[in-house]
Amino acid sequence: MKLTDEIRKSLRIRVDYTNMTDKYLGEKGISQKTLEEHKKLAKSAHAYVSGNRGRDELFMGWTELPYNQDEIVADILETAKFIRRKFEYFVVLGIGGSALGPSMAFSALCHLHYNDLPRLKRRGPKFYVEDNVDPVRMKELLDVIDIKKTCFNVISKSGATSETMTQYLIIADLLEKAGENVKDHVVFTTDASRGNLVKISKELGGVKSFVLGDGVGGRFSELSPVGLLPAAVLGIDIKAMLKGAAYMDKLCKTPDLKKNPALLSATLQYIAMKDGKNIGVMMPYSDNLRYLSDWYAQLWAESLGKNVTLSGESCNVGQTPVKALGVTDQHSQVQLYTEGPFDKVVTFLSVESYKEKSPIPHGCESIPDVSFLGGHTMEELIQAENRATAFALTKAGRMNYTILIPEINAFTLGELLYCFELQTAYAGAMLNIDTFNQPGVEAGKKATFALLGKPGYEGQKKALDGAAPDPEYIV
Ligand code: PA5
Repeated sequence: MKLTDEIRKSLRIRVDYTNMTDKYLGEKGISQKTLEEHKKLAKSAHAYVSGNRGRDELFMGWTELPYNQDEIVADILETAKFIRRKFEYFVVLGIGGSALGPSMAFSALCHLHYNDLPRLKRRGPKFYVEDNVDPVRMKELLDVIDIKKTCFNVISKSGATSETMTQYLIIADLLEKAGENVKDHVVFTTDASRGNLVKISKELGGVKSFVLGDGVGGRFSELSPVGLLPAAVLGIDIKAMLKGAAYMDKLCKTPDLKKNPALLSATLQYIAMKDGKNIGVMMPYSDNLRYLSDWYAQLWAESLGKNVTLSGESCNVGQTPVKALGVTDQHSQVQLYTEGPFDKVVTFLSVESYKEKSPIPHGCESIPDVSFLGGHTMEELIQAENRATAFALTKAGRMNYTILIPEINAFTLGELLYCFELQTAYAGAMLNIDTFNQPGVEAGKKATFALLGKPGYEGQKKALDGAAPDPEYIV
């Protein structure tokens, strides 16, 4: 993608926060005065994030990903070319931050029925992201791939995540039984020097590996090799993704709320959270962006859901992310959003130009209930429904705002991802918490180790056995 300043400007995503304000929501909305009062906090959050850019020890290495990966990107493109030529199937094995990004980019930028297209149209291998240890899913994946024609991208920063390593053990065993050299079928994305995948790579004689840098946590890793290799295998323009992220970074250099979309969104959400809006609904009006909500849910939930401040005081903060899809969930959840408790902020992701318009033919002329649709396009319909839902929510006094996306492409996806990452970092700074740790996730991982008898976890196993459910309470 050739990007002039003009093209960049035309692809700029914008935030319309009209429906958060008291002008439209009356006393349920945010007043100019409240926004003014939060400017100081927003400015200091901005200064905190800007001042700590790139600091690996604070897990802020992700801020520099749009700028420091020239050699890595070249290597990724080379590797992807080889994989596209050699393999019929490409399977990501990973979970959480190691899987949600690849799934999201796949659905955002590829054909919605990519795997069903003939190879000539796809031009790349069939693509699967396996982010669970459901035994049925594992078996049924193996039913639809030919392991001899498959490349597995094992993504795990720690190399110690039970789910991913279980999947690895299964596929390594199957490859060996099929007479294949495991090394020829796997690419690792992992820590530079620590972790089990580094050891396994050595044992196998040097597996092609990409590094997930020290300062990049799983949920902030989509613009690292975690996301870039799968995207490149799919033929996605990863350079444009990084350029979109850099463009968003540039827009967010200013602490001026009215010019920095990530800081504005963080401030609106912060004010809303203080006002008891404990639920944040992400509602894209686009099937392509459906999994962006899953990716965002992890980013927002795992980063902000914390019980202690940076100053050591106890707190229980965070906002529960809820995923909804426009228009589908208008016929499912919107009733609750409009008339239920006043505990939500709805973020709409609105697309200004869809890659298809799909004209609606005239017909059923004797039935006005149907014939009025003829002559419009499906693009007009989905956009009208988006506007109508925002209008209905606003009329009912419900906070909502819209992120306007000129079109969905690699550049705008890069903008969006970087915008949400910055928004999350700003919001965490406002809440004065550690945005980048996840002790709650680690606790579950350790309990699983104990239950399955990992050496060193005997004490925890005892405690878990002691806490077995009392039959009295099982009906
Ligand atoms: O965001 C995170 O840190 C987590 O969701 C991790 O990505 C997830 O637990 C997987 O960890 P790992 O990459 O070490 O296998």
